[in-house]
Amino acid sequence: MNYFKIIGGKSLNGSVNIRGAKNSVLELMSATLLTAEPMILHNVPNLSDIQTLIDLLSNFGTSVEWDKENHIMKLHTPVIKSVKAPYEIVKKMRASIYVLGALMGRCGEAKVSSPGGCVIGQRPVNIHLLAMEALGAKIEIHHGYIVGEAPSMNGVRRLQGGIISGLVRHQNGVAITTHGGSVNAIEAAVLAEGETVIEYVSIEPEVDDLINMLNKMGAKISREIKDGVNIVRIQGVEKLHGCEYSVMPDRLEAGTYAVAAAMTSGCIEICNADVSKMENFLDKLKEAGVKITNTDNGFIVDARNVKIKSVNVEVSQYPGFPTDMQSQFMTLMSIADGVSILKETVFENRLMYVPELVRMGADIRILGDNTAKFTGVKKLYGADVMASDLRSGASLVIAGLVAEGETILHRVYHIYRGYENFVENLRSLGANIEVLKEDIE
Ligand code: UD1
Repeated sequence: MNYFKIIGGKSLNGSVNIRGAKNSVLELMSATLLTAEPMILHNVPNLSDIQTLIDLLSNFGTSVEWDKENHIMKLHTPVIKSVKAPYEIVKKMRASIYVLGALMGRCGEAKVSSPGGCVIGQRPVNIHLLAMEALGAKIEIHHGYIVGEAPSMNGVRRLQGGIISGLVRHQNGVAITTHGGSVNAIEAAVLAEGETVIEYVSIEPEVDDLINMLNKMGAKISREIKDGVNIVRIQGVEKLHGCEYSVMPDRLEAGTYAVAAAMTSGCIEICNADVSKMENFLDKLKEAGVKITNTDNGFIVDARNVKIKSVNVEVSQYPGFPTDMQSQFMTLMSIADGVSILKETVFENRLMYVPELVRMGADIRILGDNTAKFTGVKKLYGADVMASDLRSGASLVIAGLVAEGETILHRVYHIYRGYENFVENLRSLGANIEVLKEDIE
């Protein structure tokens, strides 16, 4: 197993190219199952999660050619050979659940291993299943598998258009809509018979990326807002055709490098990023005192001679402050001047990085109810720490970049799931970080 050794104290300067959004690509690749024609995706990042999804798609009969150097992927599923998504692959990556909607849409049947809970929360898929049922599917759980069957007419199984209204749930007074549930609902409905209306649908940019690609494939999907409720309306079509599509830039990768610049009092130009999808996060960075200048294809983060100010953060869904940027931004707050209060609202267990930061000298108190108080300290100190998930791993690297002495980060495989060339990029920006091999597993 690899680990990272980071010697803190170098400020990061230079430029970095942002790749396609991991969360988008996973949706788009799953959605290619909806057509028998070849598909070409551009701007596909080289990540281990993408490889996991390739393994899953191969199971269904998809042939995949991946030109990693040029970030181009060709996918072709002329026929679906099996509708089973096995436990061995689904357990590695929760986003495997996206194949449920695509298989139900194309074949009218699916057998997908039910993803369990994960380190950041229970993450049930009950709402995904309700969406399938709203389109006429019979859903049962058999031996750990979600087994779905669309109604059959003259021997052909096809979902029926309907109203999907339960994508939202309320948690401590906050309305949370499901991103993944929205993806599955859209994928399932594009080939359903008749019209589908999906209420309380997620408005995250990656869901728009999926809608845009599906429309390019011949789907008929439109967005509207009715009485304050976000709606997607879909006219089912008989079939979809292949197309070429370029994945949107990863706002979370861009945000992570922005925090790294802020943390190390550096100045980084972030290229190929879309600032229009990052407003809330960038506003918080500005509030902390960091200078942000938009460029033609991204932005410059300048934190030279800046004393970082404390900023309160309440996570919420898009266009609010993203849960996937919470741990990185709060790592910055751990060395800010003053006290910051964090409230996480989307996932119930997303403060796992806190004890690790405390081991590095941060002053953080969990107040309960997913709230924490960060009192900025003058210095962090290198220590052995452990990544518990993708974003916490990136956050601990960022902490190590300013910590005095040596930080050893374990379980770095989490980072390879979502950041292409993370170590190489940080080194090119001036960081002292290397990948080493652990003797003991
Ligand atoms: C996606 C993203 C993840 C991001 C999250 C919120 C991918 C691969 N993952 O995750 O990076 O942090 O959106 O922006 O794109 N819930 C239910 N029942 C369900 C589904 C969800 O109760 O059937 C709950 C979840 O436990 C969570 C909340 O709804 O508390 C939001 O989860 P959801 O939006 O579904 O997150 P993901 O799609 O899993």
